[in-house]
Amino acid sequence: MDDLRDKYIDLIARAEDEAALEDLRVQAVGKKGQISLQMRELGKMTPEERQVAGPKLNALKDEINAALSAKKAALSDAALDARLKTEWLDVTLPARPQRQGSIHPISQVTEEVSAIFADMGFSVAEGPQIESDWYNFDALNIPSHHPARAEMDTFYTHRDEGDNRPPHVLRTHTSPVQIRSMQAQGAPIRVIAPGRVYRADYDQTHTPMFHQIEGLAIDRDISMANLKWCLEEFAAAFFEVDHIEVRFRASHFPFTEPSAEIDFRCSWEGGTLKLGEGDDWLEAGGSGMVHPKVLEAAGVDPNEWQGFAFGLGIDRLAMLKYGIPDLRAFFESDLRWLKHYGFAALDVPTLHGGLSR
Ligand code: DAH
Repeated sequence: MDDLRDKYIDLIARAEDEAALEDLRVQAVGKKGQISLQMRELGKMTPEERQVAGPKLNALKDEINAALSAKKAALSDAALDARLKTEWLDVTLPARPQRQGSIHPISQVTEEVSAIFADMGFSVAEGPQIESDWYNFDALNIPSHHPARAEMDTFYTHRDEGDNRPPHVLRTHTSPVQIRSMQAQGAPIRVIAPGRVYRADYDQTHTPMFHQIEGLAIDRDISMANLKWCLEEFAAAFFEVDHIEVRFRASHFPFTEPSAEIDFRCSWEGGTLKLGEGDDWLEAGGSGMVHPKVLEAAGVDPNEWQGFAFGLGIDRLAMLKYGIPDLRAFFESDLRWLKHYGFAALDVPTLHGGLSR
């Protein structure tokens, strides 16, 4: 027994990996292992002999099992150490320039617009892209028979036959975030809500998924004049010029009264767009005073509160500012295109540091 013990303790100590250790386990204490065979011999012994040999054999078995599991733990610690050594990474090293990704123009413009409105006291709000038709339509004063529902080319989620619950839609605009923000925060409130929106439309100027930014400012005495000032401030900051005149064109949206389309003064002389000068006007989005029914739907008392809302197209802003001719290129993931129009990942747009550099 002592020989057996010395042999296996020595072999276990020298085992180089878990496979070798497993072989030893089978040889020593496995069903047909040497110790197990010895145990079988106990039957042939006299009771007196058995009383001495039995406990000794059991103790030997325990000792070998203990040595096996201690060695197993040591081997797996060593394996882990070796692996950690090869996978070690110094996260404090600077990024390698050749591996730097770039920021997509849509993300860049979203950051720029957010930075400008943040400076005017707006915070950023978000809502779900899969929206109930109540938030997307009803709460915005677009009842089910309203033609605006049909005009929006809405994507509806699938419903099983006989399922009469109100449908969900891929939101067709960022306006439902107005409702969610007012419900969550009440009034007064100042938020912008950038994000993805969806409509079933596809050509050079339309993609089924695109981006909008919604603005909302509600207080006791907010007027169209405040709206105009905010939009002029925004336009000049965004296009990085001293001043851009904003023109309101009478329009209609169910969720605002009065409603106005937003135009920026511009010139197309010589085929290039210049903002803030010239006799042309560039359509930028929709706006107006939030309809009392919309305030009511969001739980804000229209007798006490009033304010403006606007919606701008982020993709369009990006195309205009960075001279990108085709909207579809935004979504093609062409690396050459991204390199050409992309922005350095570490340049975060701020008003004081410069938006686009
Ligand atoms: N939701 C409108 C659309 O997608 C845009 C819009 C117009 C938003 C007027 C507004 C607004 O907040 O006041 O066509």
